[in-house]
Amino acid sequence: MDTINWSNLSFGYIKTDYNVRTYYSEGAWSKPEITDSETLNIHMAATCLHYGQEAFEGMKAFRGKDGKVRIFRMRENAQRLQHSCRGIMMAELPVELFEECIMTVVKKNERFVPPYESGASLYIRPLIFGTSAQVGVKPSNEYTFLVFVTPVGPYFKEGFKPTPMVIMREFDRAAPLGTGTYKVGGNYAASMQSGVKAAEMGYSAVVYLDAREKKYIDECGPANFFGIKNNTYITPESSSILPSITNKSLIRLAKDMGMKVERRPVPVEELATFEEAGACGTAAVISPILKIDDLSEGKTYEFVKDGKPGAISKKLYDKLRGIQYGDEPDLHDWVTIVE
Ligand code: PLP
Ligand code: COI
Repeated sequence: MDTINWSNLSFGYIKTDYNVRTYYSEGAWSKPEITDSETLNIHMAATCLHYGQEAFEGMKAFRGKDGKVRIFRMRENAQRLQHSCRGIMMAELPVELFEECIMTVVKKNERFVPPYESGASLYIRPLIFGTSAQVGVKPSNEYTFLVFVTPVGPYFKEGFKPTPMVIMREFDRAAPLGTGTYKVGGNYAASMQSGVKAAEMGYSAVVYLDAREKKYIDECGPANFFGIKNNTYITPESSSILPSITNKSLIRLAKDMGMKVERRPVPVEELATFEEAGACGTAAVISPILKIDDLSEGKTYEFVKDGKPGAISKKLYDKLRGIQYGDEPDLHDWVTIVE
């Protein structure tokens, strides 16, 4: 703990003091339990291990100039987790219980919320998984919900700096009628081959296309995509992407700034017309895109001229971070202060 260099954190795991757990059995969730154990003891035939009955969330807590700790859009994450649970037939966690567990784990690990000046934050990772033994492909009868936290810096190590991304047409992440809108582990397993290959080639993320036609932009690895042109914020509508809470927030902020917003299928060729482009998500915040190489088509789309993020991306980034750290008023009731 004494050795944490707050200003130089990467997006990785650092041990904190406690995690919080609750267990579902016979139709009811247990009272949350606080533990300092980093491990689990689960049945070898648990459905999470064999059939991927697992979903997670990602959210952050921020320390303001005033020293207060703010959690961003906790209720939205609770509701999205319920959506994921319904998607893969797991027991749903009540929103209030989710919020209680999050507040408890952040309070119990308050000393790990990075100082305001560092620009870092406390990443909160809730997860839920099936624990009872099944050998046939059937939903579990029992579930564990667990939340741990870890202090993090930027997901893309460059931070708020444009990075190159890549379209690899030989890989898909999620099917049009599959699990792409759920935050389930299987989607991330499906993205690993392409993700590792892209990283080896020097790209920060893979831009996935719709799997059916390979005509439209889906999303950017662990983040949604947006493009900017003619004072308009444009982001894909697709049945195979995660409904990003950051994207939803940026849509609201763009409208507040008087911009137009379009949520619709975005054809790959339209990339040539964007003045700016970015990836957005809890971990990614806004990660400006330098260029996108469409490898098998031999095309490159560039979004940055002078090496710097575009002016609108910067404005949206500053506004979002301002609200998260408490420097800007929380006009939309997005922030929960941890008392
Ligand atoms: N898309 C994927 C696949 C993600 O994993 C994430 C991260 O949570 C996002 C988009 C961004 O979602 P959010 O802004 O809710 O973090
Ligand atoms: C997040 O942005 O919270 C995510 O979950 C992305 C991730 C898979 C690291």
